[in-house]
Amino acid sequence: MTQLTNEQLQQQISQLEEQLLQAQKQSAIGELVGTTTHEFNNVLMTILNYAKMGIRYKDEPTRDKALAKILAAGERAAKITNSVLAMARNRSDDMGAVNLPELISETMVLLEREMQKYRIAVEYDLQEIPSVSGIGNQIQQVLLNLLINARQAMPEGGRLLIRTVNHPQENMVDLVVRDFGFGMEPEQLQKIFQPYFSTKSGPDESGKGGTGLGLHACHKIIQQHGGKIRVESTPGRGTAFTIRLRSARPIAALPTTTETTTAQIQPLV
Ligand SMILES: Nc1ncnc2c1ncn2[C@@H]1O[C@H](COP(=O)(O)OP(=O)(O)OP(=O)(O)O)[C@@H](O)[C@H]1O
Ligand SMILES: [Mg+2]
Repeated sequence: MTQLTNEQLQQQISQLEEQLLQAQKQSAIGELVGTTTHEFNNVLMTILNYAKMGIRYKDEPTRDKALAKILAAGERAAKITNSVLAMARNRSDDMGAVNLPELISETMVLLEREMQKYRIAVEYDLQEIPSVSGIGNQIQQVLLNLLINARQAMPEGGRLLIRTVNHPQENMVDLVVRDFGFGMEPEQLQKIFQPYFSTKSGPDESGKGGTGLGLHACHKIIQQHGGKIRVESTPGRGTAFTIRLRSARPIAALPTTTETTTAQIQPLV
């Protein structure tokens, strides 16, 4: 039997980690496809039902109402396809300038109905920020994972806050996803970035959650971007994840020291 050297083992570990990341990526895309198809079907149902109503009732007010509903549904369908197309355009694995507010709004188009269904009120506090340097699709995957976790932390509904903060001196931008859900105990917080750590019994009725890979993938992605992910949480009060990314503006003098990426964990006050 040949013994594997430390180096070979390390190599195997990084290969497996890469595979894990790919798997999470596929499942995030799969979730999006599922959500989008479902959304599209809802829009189609609206169009079909109001078209039938317009045919059945010949009076002008009813027909006007039916046409207005069809128009609104058609516009929503166009918004959904635009978001999907934007996602497809983004699908390169190259680093580039990513417009976060645009990415947020494209992602929310896809999650709008799901948030409504679970009675989540989404609030925005978007400071003007420069583009960040990164891979759009990967950052969207992070955002999606955080938003779905936040939604799942509020089974009875609640508030979800998306915030962007500019730190011009440091050439960094923060993206915060804050929920007012059940929060986490300190012992749980220590484990959330570990692969396969999950407190969920399995996928919920929307088919999401339970593998314990979501946050592990977020951490990896942000690490590869040279960014930071921070979490603050208090049981019964909620959780805030902060993603810190480098802004894409040309920087006159880059700092000579490289910061180590760590997942900072602290209670939310
Ligand atoms: N916003 C949050 N509020 C409370 N607990 C959270 C929150 N986000 C994550 N957690 C906890 O961290 C665990 C790990 O999250 P992670 O996203 O990695 O896995 P998951 O959601 O269980 O499954 P999936 O891989 O399908 O996303 C969750 O099971 C949950 O216990
Ligand atoms: Mg998750």
